[in-house]
Amino acid sequence: MVIAQILRRRYGGPENTRQRWVKANGMRMARVKTGVLISGRGSNLQALIDAAADYAYPAEIAVVVSDRRDAPGLQKAAAAGIPHLTFPAADRGAFAQAAKAALHNAGVELVALAGFMRILDDSFVATWRDRLINIHPSLLPAFPGLHPQRQALAAGVKFSGCTVHFVRAAVDTGPIVGQAVVPVEPGDDEDRLAARILAAEHRLYPLALRAIAEGRTRIAGNTVKIAGGLSPDIVVFNPLESLASPPGSAIPASERTQPRGDQC
Ligand code: GRF
Repeated sequence: MVIAQILRRRYGGPENTRQRWVKANGMRMARVKTGVLISGRGSNLQALIDAAADYAYPAEIAVVVSDRRDAPGLQKAAAAGIPHLTFPAADRGAFAQAAKAALHNAGVELVALAGFMRILDDSFVATWRDRLINIHPSLLPAFPGLHPQRQALAAGVKFSGCTVHFVRAAVDTGPIVGQAVVPVEPGDDEDRLAARILAAEHRLYPLALRAIAEGRTRIAGNTVKIAGGLSPDIVVFNPLESLASPPGSAIPASERTQPRGDQC
């Protein structure tokens, strides 16, 4: 009975009809079980849910965790039939412990922060090192922290954008997986700029998650190498490397940042 439950959780069954397998780099691979942490609206969560609705996408959203009961993103998870949990713990450590257990129980291999507004404690970041990604609405390392669009306007930059990065202990730091550039237009205010950057976020995050889940990323120091050729239609995202599916190229398994399994 217990074994059956474990197998059902791992490989799917009557309660989980989501396909677990996908072809990548010519090989049959399990879709990477991804946990998403949110605090609010959840539009990036929705972009990931939409991408994963395609059974050929190499990641599946296994669970959504929020630190706020009223996060509208929870309804998006519910609408998609994705298990979702809330831990409104005031204490950083208590939240980390609860979240770790929830992710562990869901068999999560990779964690994506999507508008998660709480600073994670160091043990959580260490547990998920190289398997924890974030999206931030600026071209990091410029304008980390709060109100990055306001910071960009105040600095008078002509281009801003968004960044997906592996998470390190300091806020909004870590090796960059991908960036999308968004021009600052005359007359932009914070809301207008934020809306255009958000549209780019919704394209970038699924591409970045795809590249990681396909095992095409390798972290070298503070740089993320991505296997795959140039793809002209997304030059605006990563000028020298493609986040899109490659024509067969792969990084050796031992060097990938592909999630290594449930270790939390
Ligand atoms: C996004 O701009 C994201 O980059 C930032 O917070 C915002 C969350 O928006 N970290 P949503 O909840 O995904 O709609």
